[in-house]
Amino acid sequence: MRMGEFASINKMIDLSGKRGIVTGGFKGIGKAITARLIECGAKVVVADSDPLINDCPNTDNIIFQYCDVTDEANLVSAITSSTGDQGLDFLVNNAGIFPTTGPIEDVADDFVSRMLEVNVRAQYSASREAARYLQRGGSIVNIASIAALRGGANISAYSTSKAAIIGLTQSFAQELGAKGIRVNAIAPGIIDTPGVQDQLGPLKEGGLDIESAIASNPLRLTGAPDYIARAAIFLISDLAAFISGHTLVVDGGSTA
Ligand SMILES: NC(=O)c1ccc[n+]([C@@H]2O[C@H](COP(=O)([O-])OP(=O)(O)OC[C@H]3O[C@@H](n4cnc5c(N)ncnc54)[C@H](O)[C@@H]3O)[C@@H](O)[C@H]2O)c1
Repeated sequence: MRMGEFASINKMIDLSGKRGIVTGGFKGIGKAITARLIECGAKVVVADSDPLINDCPNTDNIIFQYCDVTDEANLVSAITSSTGDQGLDFLVNNAGIFPTTGPIEDVADDFVSRMLEVNVRAQYSASREAARYLQRGGSIVNIASIAALRGGANISAYSTSKAAIIGLTQSFAQELGAKGIRVNAIAPGIIDTPGVQDQLGPLKEGGLDIESAIASNPLRLTGAPDYIARAAIFLISDLAAFISGHTLVVDGGSTA
């Protein structure tokens, strides 16, 4: 198998009997994580605010539930839908927004507030509510970004929100560790998703050639959602039993 091909992983990682929730799992990175979870035998509630989610048929292993992560009642409902008799095994805090930020002097407070509301406050609330049900051996995976690690021009609000996820991850890991719950983050590089595709026009206007950036990492691989999915499955699985509070950079070496 050549590097970059997406072989099945269910012979390596068995998540049969595990139950959990993926926010923003209808598209992009969350969709890829959900697909890998199902492949490995888990049962998943996909909690997403895309109205089209109501058209998706549920199966034995996957429930599609409308959920705006900024709405606490929506979140609690999605979390309780995903718990079995034994509680909950994982939460993937993936839902996030990345509208073009622009130069600092043009960024209004409302814009910053909305970014923090979706990308930070909602991840905090979801983790707090899920922690009530997560059982020993449970795992939270927060999706941050390499923008959390080094910032960048014209992405100030976004990078601020994602940097907060690293602190959130470390503090929740320390506090929930005593209950046997691991909390980690993933910092993806640029990944080709519907959300990124929507930004192609505005980002180009801002001088960023994102089509080139998607494959500009040292490995020269196109950033595919499945690279992030495989990292998430690793962190959820017992292979990562001694890993908590960590931010795993998955970017083809871009930030090396
Ligand atoms: N694509 C990248 O290059 C990249 C890089 C680093 C980090 N990330 C992060 O990965 C995560 C997923 O990004 P993506 O590229 O797959 O995005 P995407 O826009 O392709 O998909 C995001 C999904 O989240 C859902 N969503 C958005 N707001 C929501 C809300 N309030 N409540 C519930 N669901 C909501 C959307 O409906 C969509 O299904 C985000 O947190 C993003 O910041 C993405």
